[in-house]
Amino acid sequence: QKSIRNNGGGVYNHIFYFNGMSDSDTRCKAGKLHDALVKEFGCVEAFYHEFEEKAMSVFGSGYAWLTVDQNGKLKIITTANQDTPIVQNLCPVLTIDVWEHAYYLKHYNERIAYIYNWFQVVDWECANMHYLECLKCRN
Ligand SMILES: [Fe+2]
Repeated sequence: QKSIRNNGGGVYNHIFYFNGMSDSDTRCKAGKLHDALVKEFGCVEAFYHEFEEKAMSVFGSGYAWLTVDQNGKLKIITTANQDTPIVQNLCPVLTIDVWEHAYYLKHYNERIAYIYNWFQVVDWECANMHYLECLKCRN
């Protein structure tokens, strides 16, 4: 169980994380996810601040996630080590790896600077696609 969680989760989480970034500006491609973020958090900036706070709160190694819960509602969570939201019956939309190896070479111990820079390269088109898929699973 532990080995599968650590290794299988590590593969899944990293694929999800790397596929969730883009070198082109995708902010106008968030589609229905944009509307859902505004509905849930008030505005995209408010979502960012809550997401940043959660990502900063991860003690040691783990991830912060934007997920869809069983009721189709957006929910920000964190997971430790290589755990995934799937085991909590949450559908992943977006994630940031906050293991120190993800940012130390560029940002040293400044996780907050890394989170800010990651937010500039989020692939919103991809996140929206995940969001729509999550909604299909919930209905
Ligand atoms: Fe990583």
